[in-house]
Amino acid sequence: MPLVKIHDKSFETYLSEETISNRIDELAAGINKDYAGNRPLFISILNGSFMFAADLFKRLTIEAELCFIKLVSYKGMKSTGKVVTSIGLEEDIFGKDIIIVEDIVDTGKTLHDFLPQLLHQQPKSLKIASLLHKSEATIYPLTIDYVGFDIPNKFVVGYGLDYDGLGRNLKEIYQLV
Ligand code: XMP
Ligand code: MG
Repeated sequence: MPLVKIHDKSFETYLSEETISNRIDELAAGINKDYAGNRPLFISILNGSFMFAADLFKRLTIEAELCFIKLVSYKGMKSTGKVVTSIGLEEDIFGKDIIIVEDIVDTGKTLHDFLPQLLHQQPKSLKIASLLHKSEATIYPLTIDYVGFDIPNKFVVGYGLDYDGLGRNLKEIYQLV
């Protein structure tokens, strides 16, 4: 199994390009069916999800819109929890069918904190598509409607995901050795 070295760590192939591609075919088919006759707005969360968003979006046969946002966490001076806010969400989501596109859901905290902000704007519906889900690690209640792969609680890189800034360009997904 080919190893790649990123910074100080070695990673081995975990999901091949073909495996990822075939699974995205299936996810897109489901979305095309579920949203037939509708025009959902996909909100892709940067940076990690850009590649998944592109590959998923190419496979859509329904009318659909796409935008990208970045989530930023702030640590208050005395607050223990983090507040997640979005940068770049200019679209009016009121009354729209929204599909959040994530690369990976780990503890679930990021989306758990962010979803109320979106719901506050009263979309018609709100679903989540995540390529990867570390379900063993998820402690914040969250329903992920479209999951690519449920993976073990190990660090992964590639296909948009990075280790300290590098590895996003890999076509496969790699797991820490
Ligand atoms: P939570 O815990 O809020 O975390 O669901 C989601 C975010 O954590 C990052 N993350 C990873 N990034 N390999 C990565 O490159 C991983 O294995 C990994 N696990 C979590 C990621 O930014 C995700 O959006
Ligand atoms: Mg991410």
